Amino acid sequence: MSGSRPRVWLPRPLFGDISGRLDEYFDVVRTSPAGDEYSSAEVADHLRGADGALVTLVERIGANEIANAPNLRAVANVAVGYDNLDIRALGERGIVATNTPDVLTETTADLGFALLMAAARRITEAERWLRAGQWTKWSFDTLLGCDLHGSTLGILGMGRIGQGIARRAAGFGMRTLYHNRNRLPETVEAEAKARYVGFDDLLARADHLVLVLPYSPQTHHVIDAAALAKMKPTATLVNIARGGLVDEPALADALAGGRLAAAGLDVYEGEPAVRPELLALRNVVLTPHIGSASLATRRAMVALAVDNLIAALGFGPDAGRPPNAITTQR
Ligand code: DGY
Repeated sequence: MSGSRPRVWLPRPLFGDISGRLDEYFDVVRTSPAGDEYSSAEVADHLRGADGALVTLVERIGANEIANAPNLRAVANVAVGYDNLDIRALGERGIVATNTPDVLTETTADLGFALLMAAARRITEAERWLRAGQWTKWSFDTLLGCDLHGSTLGILGMGRIGQGIARRAAGFGMRTLYHNRNRLPETVEAEAKARYVGFDDLLARADHLVLVLPYSPQTHHVIDAAALAKMKPTATLVNIARGGLVDEPALADALAGGRLAAAGLDVYEGEPAVRPELLALRNVVLTPHIGSASLATRRAMVALAVDNLIAALGFGPDAGRPPNAITTQR
């Protein structure tokens, strides 16, 4: 049978006990990048003979990468965000793209909340200070932070993860305002205990602002110098979505100049590179894109992506109907 089966590219090892399920249906070509990431030419090369691919957010696939991949029919992304895929280019070729929503919602909302608490209450700054041996006497005004309880949380992007953060905020006694491309149905707003406001209103009223919206050319640098200037100088900004949403030099300026109290960042525009001006600041908590990084959730993401790929290539119980298709087959 081997040889007549579809060929699938797996560009990096992903929980072999789960991704191994692909072997039941496909000839799986397993590779690892020579450096940290594949070049565009390497991606193109691996896609050339492939019918499908199971990729992570660091494999970028667009018109150039699929130009010489005539058999390619499906790309399963192991992430909910899919700005690494050129959906239009894939759609024009009738290539199905899928993502992994839902399974990572609560884990990512947890991380968003953890960053919010760490930034507002200066947790990592306090730990660095203590470890540096600077705690020589207790004093009343050491490392004063900002409260979460009783404060107003702003959420920009009110999809599943945004709603997960709103649910957590209700438990902390926060008021939640949100802004989204589309206002949510009243029932969903009631469940999330969140009120819709305009973008500028959100910026002006939030004591803490969390970014959970998808990155696209339309949302590029949605938080720029002008947006930051509309926020309270006592506010905290948290970004768990994509780095390109924030103009990082403008953010670093605002944090350094006291025009914003603190930030918690899990994502960066040029990641894994982090700007030196951010690294130099005491009032920013930095984590290395670990929003969905619990063992259980990462395993669930791979399992879902495997289901998606099997279905998109016409096998398994959902043959032809991948649960999380982003584009539709021609
Ligand atoms: C996602 O799923 O988009 C996350 O950023 C990856 O963990």
